[in-house]
Amino acid sequence: MTALLAIQTTQRSIGYAVLALVVLGGIAFFVNQLVLGRREAGSEIELAPNRGPDLPDEELEGRRLNIALWSALGLLVVIALTLPLYWLAEGGRQVGAVKKFEETFVRRGEILFGTDPLEGSQCETCHGPKGTGGSASFVITNEDGEYVDTVTWAAPALNTVMWRFSNAEVKDILTYGRPGTPMQPWGVEGGGALSDQQLDELLEYMWSVQLTEDEMHTELLAAVKAVDEGLADRLAKVQEANASKLADDPMSYDCVYAGSDFACLEEGDQLRLGEIVFNMSSTSGGAYSCARCHVPGASFGKPYESIDVIARGRYGPNLEGIEKDLTVKQHFALIMQGSEAGKIYGANHQGDGRMPGFGINPNNGDTSVPQLGKGSMYTPEVAWAVMVYERNLSTERAAIAARSTTAKAGEQ
Ligand code: HEC
Ligand code: HEC
Repeated sequence: MTALLAIQTTQRSIGYAVLALVVLGGIAFFVNQLVLGRREAGSEIELAPNRGPDLPDEELEGRRLNIALWSALGLLVVIALTLPLYWLAEGGRQVGAVKKFEETFVRRGEILFGTDPLEGSQCETCHGPKGTGGSASFVITNEDGEYVDTVTWAAPALNTVMWRFSNAEVKDILTYGRPGTPMQPWGVEGGGALSDQQLDELLEYMWSVQLTEDEMHTELLAAVKAVDEGLADRLAKVQEANASKLADDPMSYDCVYAGSDFACLEEGDQLRLGEIVFNMSSTSGGAYSCARCHVPGASFGKPYESIDVIARGRYGPNLEGIEKDLTVKQHFALIMQGSEAGKIYGANHQGDGRMPGFGINPNNGDTSVPQLGKGSMYTPEVAWAVMVYERNLSTERAAIAARSTTAKAGEQ
C-alpha cells in the first residue's frame, strides 16, 4: 500500500496539496476558536452576541444573503461538474491500471525469459532471443541411464506458440516440461522453481512477441521456397485463389473430389509439400514441423535412426498407418485444431491437449487472452498437404527403407 501511495502523479500531488490545505485550515480554525473563547471569558454579559441587537433585515437580506446563496450555488455547480468528470476519468484510470499491470508482467516475463544470471531462467539460451527458435545440447541415455550420445536438440520457436496451443496448454508445458527432452519442468507443481505468478509473467511475455498470421505464412512459404521454388509459387497461387473463400471457415477446405469448390495443388505437389513441412526442422527450431514430435530422433537430426536405442524423443504417436485410423475429415480436423484434453478425436482417440493445432488459433474467442485472429500457422492448403503426406507415410517409410537397403548393398 505504501509503495502504491509513493507513486507520484500530478493528480496525486494536487490531492496532497489540497489535503494539506484542509488540515492546516482546520487547525487554524480550531486555534482561532480557542483564542476567541479565551478572550471572551468573563465578559459575556456585555459581549454575548445574542444579547446585542442583530443586523437589520435590509442588511441581512441584501449583499450578505446574496453572497451566501451565490457561493452555495457555486459549490453545487462544482460538485455537479466534478462528479461526472471523475466518473468519466475513472474508466480510463481502470483501463490504464490493467495496462500497466500487463506491462509490468511483460517486463518481468522478459527478464525471466532472458539470461540474467540472478533473475533469468535462461529460456532464451535454448529458444533464441524473443523466442525465435534455437537448440540445446543434450545427453541421451538409455533405459538403464547409460550414456548413448550427445546431440543438438532443436528448441522450437515460441513466437508462434500461442497460435498452436491454448494459453492453458502452454502453461501446462511450462509447469511439467517434456520428460526425456531438454525442456525441464519449471513450475513448482512439476518440481521446478517458478511460482504460478512467474509462469503467468512468462506467458504474458510470450504473448507480447507472437508473430502475426501473415508473418507466419510468409515464413513458411519462404522455407518451402528455399527447397522448391516452383512448388512455393504454385502454393502461393492456390492460397491466393482460396483466400476470400476460406477466410470465414478455413475448416471447409476440401480437395478430395476433382470437382472441389476450392483451388487445389496437384497430388504430387501435395505429397512433396507435405513432406517438406512435416520434416521442416531448420526453420524456427522446427516449430512448423510434425516430425519433431512424431519421429524419434527427428529433433536432433537423426530421424528413424536407432529407434530401439533411442526410445526417446517420440512424444506423439507413430503415424504410420494413420490412414486406417482416421478418416480424411477427422485427420484434417485434427491437424487444423489439435487435440483438447479430455476430448475425443477421430472415432475413439482420447485427446490430452498435447497435439498442437496448426490451422485454427486455439485461443480465438477466449476473452481472457489477447486476440490475434482466427487462422493459424498453416493455411488450410498446407494442412491438407501434410495430411496427404501422412496418409502415405507407410509407403514412404517402405521407400526410405528400400533406398537405404539399396545404398547399403551398394556399399558392400
Ligand atoms: C535447455 C534448453 C531449454 C531451456 C532452458 C528451456 N527450454 Fe523450452 N524447450 C526446449 C526444447 C528442446 C523443447 C522441445 C522439446 C521437444 O522436443 O518436445 C522445448 C519446448 C518448449 C515449449 C513447447 C513448444 C512446442 O511447440 O512444443 C515451450 C512452451 C517452452 N519450451 C517454453 C520454455 C520457457 C518459457 C522456458 C524458460 C522458462 C524454456 N522453455 C526453457 C529447450 C529448453
Ligand atoms: C508438440 C508435439 C507435436 C507436434 C509438433 C505434432 N504433434 Fe501430432 N500429436 C502429438 C501428440 C502428443 C498426439 C497424441 C494425441 C494427444 O496427446 O492429444 C498427437 C496425435 C496426432 C495424430 C493422431 C495420431 C493417433 O494415432 O491418434 C495425428 C494424425 C497427428 N498428431 C498429426 C500431426 C501433424 C500432421 C503434425 C504437424 C502438422 C503434428 N501432429 C505435430 C504431438 C505433436
